[in-house]
Amino acid sequence: MKKNLVALSLFVGLTLLALPSGCYYDNEEDLYGPVLLNCDTTNIRFGVEIKQIFEQNCNACHTTSGSSYSLIPFETHAQIEAVAKNGKLLNRINSQSAPMPQTGLMSLCNRAKIEAWVRTGALDN
Ligand code: HEC
Repeated sequence: MKKNLVALSLFVGLTLLALPSGCYYDNEEDLYGPVLLNCDTTNIRFGVEIKQIFEQNCNACHTTSGSSYSLIPFETHAQIEAVAKNGKLLNRINSQSAPMPQTGLMSLCNRAKIEAWVRTGALDN
């Protein structure tokens, strides 16, 4: 009986040792979604990249003279910084159910640029 137990634990021990230890591996694409090719998210400036994205995708509505939404104008840094810091900006540009712009999500690159700007402090740079 004791002999069997020794044999069994020896067997289990050896089996565990023999198992490959590297079963888990990371893959950038699995972890972060499709890799962004040709999308430079370093040194994103409010006055340049962010302003341009907003002009092209948001201002038609989010300005005081905008077609459908004058209550949340995005005309100054302070106005955009407010939604950047309360979480609504990233929430809505990545939302499947209530996307901004309403017509559908922007390109991954535009969204990555806004995310980079928010994560580095939503500066007025
Ligand atoms: C076609 C008009 C239109 C466009 C284009 C548009 N929005 Fe909006 N947005 C609205 C309207 C209307 C609301 C208010 C209703 C709602 O929350 O869905 C809103 C609400 C929001 C809110 C929530 C604000 C709050 O305080 O609750 C955010 C954030 C936002 N938009 C960001 C954006 C961004 C960023 C873009 C461009 C990438 C954009 N929107 C483009 C019309 C638009």
